[in-house]
Amino acid sequence: MSDLLKQTEEITKIILEAKKKAQIETKEDKSKDFVSNNTDIEWPINCVVGPGLEGAIACTSKIGYVNGAKGWLIYRGYDIFDLCAYSTFEEVSYLLIHGKLPTKDELDIFNKKLINYRDINYTIKLLMGLNVEEMNTMAVLRIGTNFIRHDSTFIDSKYYKPDFNSHISSDEDSIPMETKPMGEKEAIYEFKKADYQEKSKIMEKELVDPIGYKSSYRLLSGVASVAGAVARLRQGKLPIEPNPELSFAANLIYMTTGKIPTPVEERIMDVSLILHADHGMNASTFATMVVASTLSDMYFAVGSGIAALNGPLHGGANAEVLKMLKEIGDIDNVEQWYEKKQQNKEKVMGFGHRVYKAYDPRARVLGPLAEYLIQNSDNKESKKIFKIAQKLEEQVIAHLGKEKKIFPNVDFYSGIVYSCLNIPVELFTPFFAVSRVSGWTARVIEYVQRNRIFRPRALYIGEFDKEYVPIDKR
Ligand SMILES: CC(C)(COP(=O)(O)OP(=O)(O)OC[C@H]1O[C@@H](n2cnc3c(N)ncnc32)[C@H](O)[C@@H]1OP(=O)(O)O)[C@@H](O)C(=O)NCCC(=O)NCCS
Repeated sequence: MSDLLKQTEEITKIILEAKKKAQIETKEDKSKDFVSNNTDIEWPINCVVGPGLEGAIACTSKIGYVNGAKGWLIYRGYDIFDLCAYSTFEEVSYLLIHGKLPTKDELDIFNKKLINYRDINYTIKLLMGLNVEEMNTMAVLRIGTNFIRHDSTFIDSKYYKPDFNSHISSDEDSIPMETKPMGEKEAIYEFKKADYQEKSKIMEKELVDPIGYKSSYRLLSGVASVAGAVARLRQGKLPIEPNPELSFAANLIYMTTGKIPTPVEERIMDVSLILHADHGMNASTFATMVVASTLSDMYFAVGSGIAALNGPLHGGANAEVLKMLKEIGDIDNVEQWYEKKQQNKEKVMGFGHRVYKAYDPRARVLGPLAEYLIQNSDNKESKKIFKIAQKLEEQVIAHLGKEKKIFPNVDFYSGIVYSCLNIPVELFTPFFAVSRVSGWTARVIEYVQRNRIFRPRALYIGEFDKEYVPIDKR
């Protein structure tokens, strides 16, 4: 058992309590949907497909399984509760990407690589050229993946344009504006030829593995470092260098807040990372796989995952939940607020799920962890928000639990957990993305081994045989 697990045994107890509760509540249900024992599937498969590809089977996978009726979440055969109780995010990422739990040596090598790839100085330098404080944090994260792509692979060098014979030195004022100064053929940036050549060699190696492990590791560490840098830049502070002594979770908090977390804070962040690492063929995973299936590369693919995750129906819900709880404002307002929502037929953020028709196992863990953090905090505002959340949960379950199987989802309590860890609200969804890079890239690596470009069809319900009318006659 690692030192961190020993130091945080009370967290393990909370997780195992949640596991027990889940087992009791779902023990009657034995159904296993969307499972096959046959690894050599014969296509096509008969399935009932709804709009938005609901119910469609697009591929086979050994990576993760969600059973919505039971409230099960399984990574590579392991129950999510056990992984949260006994494992670490680094180990779980290795498990998702490589298909087995690592030996001690394998984990050491993996950790060393991840630590090495945390250092993305050039990417941070490029990010600092943006107005990060004015931009959507997920937009910056997405741009960050393009910068990491450029920095790590120099894959675009074939588009590298300058003619070295004609380049001129430019001072700061003249760089972007002066396109045709007097007496010069053309003004261009002063590129460093030596750097370019060195990168080019790296690129050659990297190109062999554009949708493989190396890109996956780089993104896993790099996206976390970008998230930390974004948080700092938004506070008007300089990004912090990663600390190689710290675990993935501790370093993420450190690079974001500037403070080394306590063991309990580190463990709770670690558990949250594990819980968000993979979740079947959800929208962002599907987006990632669609892009990778065109044999674009991992960096573009993860960038699309980030874009898809941003929406309020997906990962963006965690930030919306906190806004909603603040808007309710007081525990005494909950009933009235909820009644109004019902009258207007509006959805309550952080509830419901396309797949789960039972309590989301991730919320089963995050709810009690939020409560634990609140009990040990003297932040009155957080305590108030948590009480509002508990009351709202009671209300929604009482009205929609039995009838429509609506329960809290992963996003309902994750925001409260993050805010107790001093993570700013605009970083909630980027943190979700940081965790999900492991699942996204694991699924891409698996899929491209038997790649088939995604290409569903739409049912055309439009017209035919219309006569073109010239614009002046319309
Ligand atoms: C996640 C979500 C998109 C899943 O949607 P879905 O599978 O398409 O479910 P539907 O929208 O078809 O909803 C089914 C029924 O439950 C109700 N419902 C679903 N989510 C609800 C919510 N959050 N609050 C209130 N009612 C909800 C719908 O109104 C619908 O009722 P009806 O049958 O009377 O029309 C949806 O539950 C939602 O928008 N939740 C809020 C956003 C959120 O928390 N997203 C994070 C997901 S992890």
